[in-house]
Amino acid sequence: LNRVQQLPKGFVWGAATAAYQTEGSTKVAGKGKTMWDDYLVAQGRFLPDPASDFYNRYEEDIRLSAEHGLNAIRVSIAWTRIFPNGDDAEPLAEGVKHYHELFACCKKYGVEPYVSLHHFDSPAALFNQGDWLNRKTVDAYVRYAEFCFREFREVKNWFTINELISLSHSQYIQGNFPPNHHFDVTSGIQSQHNELVAHARAVNLYKDLDETEHLGGRIGMVNVLTPAYPATDSPADQHAADLYNAFYTDFIMDGAFLGHYSARTLSLINEILRANNATLTVEDSDMEELAKAAPRNDMFGLNYYQSAFIAAYDGESTNSFNGTGDKGTSCFKFKGVGQQVDMPGIPTTDWDWLIYPQGLYDTLKHISATYPNLPVIYITENGLGHKDPEPDANGIVADPERIDFVDQHMEKVLQARAEGVDVQGYFIWSLQDQFSWANGYNKRYGLFYIDFDTQKRYIKQSALWYKELADTMADAQ
Ligand code: BG6
Repeated sequence: LNRVQQLPKGFVWGAATAAYQTEGSTKVAGKGKTMWDDYLVAQGRFLPDPASDFYNRYEEDIRLSAEHGLNAIRVSIAWTRIFPNGDDAEPLAEGVKHYHELFACCKKYGVEPYVSLHHFDSPAALFNQGDWLNRKTVDAYVRYAEFCFREFREVKNWFTINELISLSHSQYIQGNFPPNHHFDVTSGIQSQHNELVAHARAVNLYKDLDETEHLGGRIGMVNVLTPAYPATDSPADQHAADLYNAFYTDFIMDGAFLGHYSARTLSLINEILRANNATLTVEDSDMEELAKAAPRNDMFGLNYYQSAFIAAYDGESTNSFNGTGDKGTSCFKFKGVGQQVDMPGIPTTDWDWLIYPQGLYDTLKHISATYPNLPVIYITENGLGHKDPEPDANGIVADPERIDFVDQHMEKVLQARAEGVDVQGYFIWSLQDQFSWANGYNKRYGLFYIDFDTQKRYIKQSALWYKELADTMADAQ
């Protein structure tokens, strides 16, 4: 099973979490509502409380991390614990104190925090006014970012926004995140652009502040890349894959790391906009902000889960993919872009996501060849959502599928590294089992199993394997 025999010296070997998916305690200490709170109650399927109770149990999880060889953890700050409405005049002291304590705990155990400012959890008050489609959210976000940069000086690794594309896609194309719009292409592209502007403004702010206030850390963004391959070698399918890649990858990568949208990307995006009677509005100062920020990113956080195989499609957009793992991927049809097709022979997860490690390698090679300004890369999420068995008599959870998944993907990371792609770390998604936005609690990703009735933590075999690998790194030093 083990392809990966040894980790390179100094490699960041971590696990990822997000505030809303782990913390619970959504109604304590003055915390404001996020865009999910009322939505989840209305849906009545799953609730975010107590999630993994990380708000109260973080020390146990960080201790477990250290004991299993992790030297880093991704966490996010819940904006609504600091500014309950997103743009309040004064921060909430208890929220600020909470995150200082969390970061102190990381330090105590030698687990370096990589901190996102936004992980799918916009304040409800701003969401109700249009979320990222409203420039007011961008302004409020930058103010919140400035507060955090100055306040949490112990944080040396910042990420601006998690997975800009997933947020736009899930909110306005697939429609499985609030506000549940389906194929609202104008909002889908506009929110990508506005989030990029927010990202760029935060990077520029951090770098400017660093010059005068010596913050001494690094900043970058996290995005998920899902490379599209043509379903056949026909020119039509090839073009569909190009369109898909433009909408789902190139637009954001260009904006963040070129500082402008390339002529090729713009031409493909315009073709999609025309097919959907959609528009994109760019304000004068936006492109200046993007151009200034592009070379100032210190890191790129790449999330990778799956690849997509795309055939040409000109019919009406439809998506009957319900994410519960019984439909295949072939129900996603995006007018003027393409349709996803099932690929017999490529294994899938319990939720029908293609398991395709080659896609990670191809993506790493592609972005490093395409973006000369690309900073160092961290794999900030990669992992297997799986229906894990319950703990055995010894309290251990058998998850050989997850070990195999990480092993196969890490092999591709190390291969790309050997060929000169500067990947300096890997964070498994996720540290402990946690709330999955559209799938609730039975889609488990963690190194540590959580009994969601008792909140007791159990060790998975993957955590033991993680430690074994971490030990090979220590030995090599
Ligand atoms: C990424 C997110 O999109 O993938 C995580 O950053 C998310 O927040 C993860 O949980 C896995 O997705 P899902 O839908 O399986 O929970």
